[in-house]
Amino acid sequence: MIVCSCNVLSDSDIRTACARSAPRTTGEVYGCLGCSPQCGRCARTIKQIMDEALVAAAAACAVGCQVCPHSGHPIPAEAVAAPDRS
Ligand code: FES
Repeated sequence: MIVCSCNVLSDSDIRTACARSAPRTTGEVYGCLGCSPQCGRCARTIKQIMDEALVAAAAACAVGCQVCPHSGHPIPAEAVAAPDRS
């Protein structure tokens, strides 16, 4: 499905860019795909696809990453503090 008519980007293009380079912003997604935002109408949809891709990547993570509820970015298991048992 085409999500950006200005740059003719599909949802598959966005998911591939997320898998290859883990962009943190919609601007980085455009850059990864060799273009730049034009009208900006697709930005919200691209962000939604990015969030879905990050959640899927975290769920599939072999080392048990969690997803930050604020940023939507994966948190490596080793970065999650162990509970204080003292
Ligand atoms: S629809 Fe994506 S920049 Fe216009």
